[in-house]
Amino acid sequence: MSEASRIAVLSGKGGVGKTNLVANVAVAASETGAKVLVVDGDLGLANVDVLLGLAPRYTVADVIEGTCSFEEALLVGPSGIHVLPAASGRSDLPSFRPDRLAGLLIPFFEVTGRYDLVLVDAGAGVGPAVITLAAACERVVLVVTDEPTSLTDAYATLKVLCREAPSVPVDVVVNLAASDRVARDVHERLSRVSERFLSVRPAYLGHLPRDPRLAKAVGRQRAVVELHPTAPSSRRFAELARELLPSRRTAGAMPTSRDSRLEHPLPFTGTRT
Ligand SMILES: Nc1ncnc2c1ncn2[C@@H]1O[C@H](COP(=O)(O)OP(=O)(O)OP(=O)(O)O)[C@@H](O)[C@H]1O
Ligand SMILES: [Mg+2]
Repeated sequence: MSEASRIAVLSGKGGVGKTNLVANVAVAASETGAKVLVVDGDLGLANVDVLLGLAPRYTVADVIEGTCSFEEALLVGPSGIHVLPAASGRSDLPSFRPDRLAGLLIPFFEVTGRYDLVLVDAGAGVGPAVITLAAACERVVLVVTDEPTSLTDAYATLKVLCREAPSVPVDVVVNLAASDRVARDVHERLSRVSERFLSVRPAYLGHLPRDPRLAKAVGRQRAVVELHPTAPSSRRFAELARELLPSRRTAGAMPTSRDSRLEHPLPFTGTRT
């Protein structure tokens, strides 16, 4: 089998839709016949298992500490996806020090040859653990919304990625977007600033609409693609899954030069152009 596509999902700002994207793209990809692994990399406040109504017996903390094997920790989720759950409230474990994380967790990604797609929910923020996970992946999906706070955090994330993981391409998904046109405008505003100050232009991967049925599915701890396959968000998740599966990969952003990381206030609060 060909090498799995390893994708880390980041956002900077919390609560913008990372976990829903990871879970639903995973299920949608699995429904096309792909073998999919979800790694809950939100090591402080894990919630992939909660979102999918799964009950972990072991977590990544047990794998890292040697209490159980990688296989024993895996849960089987909707449509047969595999989920490596994280532990909530245990981020103080010495094993989770970011400098050790790379050595301890990343080798488990090596088993990913048996998967077509590995999606890592890297969690919010831009701390060392998030960046370590991103650097271990082949590409990053950056989830943003049309809010100055989200765009500012997304820019900060791009800035750290430029420094710490410069070879990892970045694609942007705009969540809660009123339309594809609005989402492209949001992407353009982020790209313009990052191109100017970081010499990096992230690619546009797509948008997700605000979908009440997604929120309802969250309440029922089910993936919306499973519960409401024809809902607007489910259709978009299926499209994103097709885009992210290895055979459909397109190039994301690559740094155009590495010499202009300037410190500037960001003009995300301005009007749309
Ligand atoms: N497209 C959408 N339509 C409607 N509601 C949404 C959508 N995306 C996200 N939400 C709402 O936002 C909430 C947060 O989403 P989610 O848990 O995926 O964010 P997150 O980025 O993983 O958050 P955190 O940073 O805390 O891990 C969801 O529970 C849901 O209610
Ligand atoms: Mg989350």
